[in-house]
Amino acid sequence: MLSVQNLEKTYHSNQLDSPVLKGLNLDVKQGEFAAVMGPSGSGKTTLLNILSGFLNADGGKVLLDGQDILHAQQEELTQIRQKKLGYVFQDFMLLDSLTTQENVYLPQVIAGKDQKEMMTDTELLFRQFGIRDIALKYPGQISGGQKQRVAVARALSNHPLLVLADEPTGNLDSRSGEAVMDAFIKAKEEFGATILMVTHDAKAASRTGRVITLKDGEIRSELMKNGSDRSFMEEILHYLGEA
Ligand SMILES: Nc1ncnc2c1ncn2[C@@H]1O[C@H](COP(=O)(O)OP(=O)(O)OP(=O)(O)O)[C@@H](O)[C@H]1O
Ligand SMILES: [Mg+2]
Repeated sequence: MLSVQNLEKTYHSNQLDSPVLKGLNLDVKQGEFAAVMGPSGSGKTTLLNILSGFLNADGGKVLLDGQDILHAQQEELTQIRQKKLGYVFQDFMLLDSLTTQENVYLPQVIAGKDQKEMMTDTELLFRQFGIRDIALKYPGQISGGQKQRVAVARALSNHPLLVLADEPTGNLDSRSGEAVMDAFIKAKEEFGATILMVTHDAKAASRTGRVITLKDGEIRSELMKNGSDRSFMEEILHYLGEA
């Protein structure tokens, strides 16, 4: 489903080169729900931004469903984003001049979804995330945690093949965080979505089946779940404590 080969990225600023990804390799199977963890500055957002085609890489290959993201034409990339990808940004990226409901409608309108279906799906997501009461409000009028849930609803609205989520529970209390994890698991079970989620939260990570840790632009380790959420969480906490 997703294959990352020898991915390299260096930022250049003030004649200073900062290599962030140094030949990263990663394969994620269809229907897999995986977490990416690692210290601040280890390259997690950079990785997600490259996978989504928002950022150029310096070398390597990214295959999404057999399509080469790094070398796709702009038009092809737009198609892939619209049809296959749902993205939750670390800073939400909601449009301030649209209500939260319109923010979630937008990608569905662009994808040409049937209007009735669009309204039903949106209503369902808002109900699931406990944000129906803010449907007609603007991003400037709601809290950070509410914005985060709107951003997750938007990312899931077109039933994407691949969901890339950058700390989607970072601003949420544990109950809202659980609702977001439940929604990801539902997306995986109901339409085979593949989910790659950056998180600092061991509890959220323990709901996935696999935890990939990054350090200094390389994969440091992988933990696979083979028990309950609770025992996986203990394993993750233990690992992070030791690391
Ligand atoms: N546009 C940029 N120009 C130059 N350097 C950048 C740029 N964006 C990120 N960096 C640097 O690249 C490194 C990786 O950044 P990145 O945002 O991928 O980290 P992260 O793992 O997502 O961190 P966090 O957990 O804090 O979100 C950091 O050292 C950061 O300062
Ligand atoms: Mg980040």
